This record gives sequence, C-alpha cells and structure tokens, in this order.
Amino acid sequence: RQDFTFAILKPDVTDKMREQILEDIRTNGFEIVYIGSPRRYTEEEAKKHYMEHKGKPFYEGLVQYIISGEIVPLILRKTDSRNAVEKFKKLVGKSDGSELNTLRNRYGVSIVPYKGGINIQYNKIHASDSMPIVLREASLVFTDEELKNIFDEDICLLIKEKLFLQDDGILKGTIGIDDLLKSLTLLQKEI
Ligand code: PPS
Repeated sequence: RQDFTFAILKPDVTDKMREQILEDIRTNGFEIVYIGSPRRYTEEEAKKHYMEHKGKPFYEGLVQYIISGEIVPLILRKTDSRNAVEKFKKLVGKSDGSELNTLRNRYGVSIVPYKGGINIQYNKIHASDSMPIVLREASLVFTDEELKNIFDEDICLLIKEKLFLQDDGILKGTIGIDDLLKSLTLLQKEI
C-alpha cells in the first residue's frame, strides 16, 4: 500500500531555502518522490485551492501570497511508516509557526501589512489535509502529463472524472479513503 502526501513550497522560498527545506524533509523520514516544475497559480486556481477558507480574515492575504510568484509542488512519501498526510502536517506545524521543531517554526515569518490589519503568515510551505485533498490539489497543480508520470492510469481517471468533476471544485466525496488508497500506485521516480 502506497502512502504519500502533497505539499507546496510557497513563492517566497528562495533556491537556497528550498534545498534546506528539502533536506529537513528527508532528515525527517520522507522520500521526495516528485518535484514539479516551478509554476504560478492563477488567481482562479488559488481560489479553488483555498475555497474552504473563503470569508476568513486571512483569505485575501493568503490568496495574494500564493499567487505572488512561482510555487514548487512536491509529492512525498513517508519511508518508515504509514499516514504520510498526517505525519507531514505535523512536521509542517501550525500556520503561525508557533510549534517548535516544525518547518514553519524554522522558516516561516509573520508580517503585518503596512496598511494595518491582520498578520500575514508567510509560512513557506503548504501540506494537504487528507488523501482526497492530496488528489484535488495535485490535479490543480500538475499538468496531465505530470499526473500520468506520478500516478497510474486508474488514479488519473479517478482524479479527473470522480474526485474533481465539478467546476466549483467541490469534492464529490463518494469514494472512501481506504478504497482510494487500495487503488493507488505511485510510480517510483528518481530525483
Ligand atoms: S483554519 O481557520 O483553522 O482553517 O486555518 P488554518 O488551518 O490554520 O490555515 C488554513 C490556511 O490558511 C493559512 N493561514 C494564513 N495565511 C496567511 N496569513 C494568516 N494570518 C493565515 N492564517 C492561516 C494557513 O497557512 C493555511 O494555508 P496553507 O496553504 O495550508 O499554509
């Protein structure tokens, strides 16, 4: 059974910081299965990605942050156990970087906009919350070609036809996570 997760390095991660973050990820027992080419989210894609946060005070700032430059998508696997999604969320830590020994604590910064208002958390890394979200986010970020390289054909069809059908991007949620995981095959990819 393959167990993996999806993450994004946010636009303000410099080349040097990216290497440090990737090293930290490996040191913490994750294999970096796939590094996508740097690309920009359009505002529409960013709003789809963060649709569940619409209306929250940080929403506009978060969308502006994620579209402010190129993001780097990652597929990661936990090498020594299961629950990659949950374990990676733990390594990433809370949004505000307040938890010690987390990536956001090490690399994140919090800035108050010059015109005032709430702090924007430039927390450098996004991690998916659940396996359906992994697939939804992967389908937003990766090209069809990349999806085919990363996932096997069945899962590509699942992503495109079952999970992410609706234009508003809302998950249909009819597939149990266990069924989903059973049908997943992640191709090994040497980086
Ligand atoms: S919530 O309200 O509990 O669901 O929020 P949370 O799970 O902590 O965060 C959801 C995403 O919003 C980002 N976030 C922020 N970004 C910028 N500034 C502020 N103040 C802020 N608060 C929350 C947080 O980083 C999560 O996005 P990702 O992409 O996962 O980092």
